[in-house]
Amino acid sequence: MEKKWIVGNWKMHGSNALAAELVSAAVGAKTQRAEVVICPPFTLLAGVHGLIRGKGLHLGGQDCHQAVEGAYTGDTSAAMLVEAGCGYVILGHSERRTQHQETDALIRAKCEAALAAGLKVILCVGESLTEREAGKAESVVATQLKDCMPASATTGNLLLAYEPVWAIGTGKTASLGDIEQMHRFIGAKAKGFTVLYGGSVKPGNAKEIMSVPGVGGVLVGGASVEPQSFAAIIGAAG
Ligand code: PGA
Repeated sequence: MEKKWIVGNWKMHGSNALAAELVSAAVGAKTQRAEVVICPPFTLLAGVHGLIRGKGLHLGGQDCHQAVEGAYTGDTSAAMLVEAGCGYVILGHSERRTQHQETDALIRAKCEAALAAGLKVILCVGESLTEREAGKAESVVATQLKDCMPASATTGNLLLAYEPVWAIGTGKTASLGDIEQMHRFIGAKAKGFTVLYGGSVKPGNAKEIMSVPGVGGVLVGGASVEPQSFAAIIGAAG
């Protein structure tokens, strides 16, 4: 049975009340075919960990620092995520790349730190609209893969997520043909790695996106903080 990954990236949304609602919707929708990872903001991690205990859902952070510990005000280490109950961490998200000036080299260092702490990494790659229009989508993604994936990455400890930047939070999704082509391209560069698609995944398009060859699941932002939508996307895994 082929499983599909459904990763919910809450970004800077949520509260204890919403967490309880979302987790109960996700637990109700979960089937054997779906591996569900919930990635709430740091302050909600421990609470969500308590809510999902024994329910077959996974917990992930949205970022971690590259150092083991130190004088880094406002940052969170990979070991801290582990202690909060995380098994996963999202790294290289385009919002971190653009809003926090994260470079491929920094993202690679963060991946190394996360893997060393025993976390599994969900590494995001994807091109901007200008890059796609200039015909550079594949070369941009190839560079990100080459420069962000550490030598310690294996098909067992790292998932990739293809997220065209112009599709994130915009209501625009890449065409099924473009998704298939990029997933085939990534699959050839990173053989055997699971590749998720992200960018305006909603209940109405999740099933068709997950049926595209090479798509191992979805990374969901906006719809992951709407309990009914997230449940429907989990249900779309079959
Ligand atoms: P979106 O976000 O589903 O709101 O487009 C996806 C993401 O940023 O991971």
